[in-house]
Amino acid sequence: MSVERTFSMIKPDAVAAGQVGEILAMIEQAGFKIVGLRMIRMTEKQAQGFYAVHREKPFFAGLVKFMTEGPILVMALEREDAVRKWREVMGATNPANAAEGTVRKRFASSIERNCVHGSDAPETAAVELGFFFSAADLL
Ligand code: RTP
Ligand code: MG
Repeated sequence: MSVERTFSMIKPDAVAAGQVGEILAMIEQAGFKIVGLRMIRMTEKQAQGFYAVHREKPFFAGLVKFMTEGPILVMALEREDAVRKWREVMGATNPANAAEGTVRKRFASSIERNCVHGSDAPETAAVELGFFFSAADLL
């Protein structure tokens, strides 16, 4: 397994709750190098585009509303096996099913408001990184 990059977000619930520092510490402790980081507030159009794969789902409108309710951090994370490893550190989508010691177990309040995002495959990571970063932005 070689060094790869994944795309990650700290969602509006965690930014509003002042959990950015602790989540960044967990990311670094898990061996990731942060190679890109910006704070933004997504527009409705951006959120609809970013989550387009979920547009037919019953939770889509609520997801777009949540993701645009306040600022978020967008990040590019690098390490060996980054995509799989970051999803492991995040924990399950529903915090009720998240393993002890994961970010979602510690900080997520529900399946909707689950504090972090991570790409689900290397191909998705490439698309999602391109959504928020140009090559010149990344180290
Ligand atoms: P993410 O994309 O945010 O990293 O999360 P994920 O892969 O673990 O979950 P995914 O199935 O891609 O869902 C995207 C986000 O939509 C919200 N969601 N709500 N009410 C529901 O049943 C439901 N299911 C998903 C969550 O915010 C989830 O992270
Ligand atoms: Mg997903």
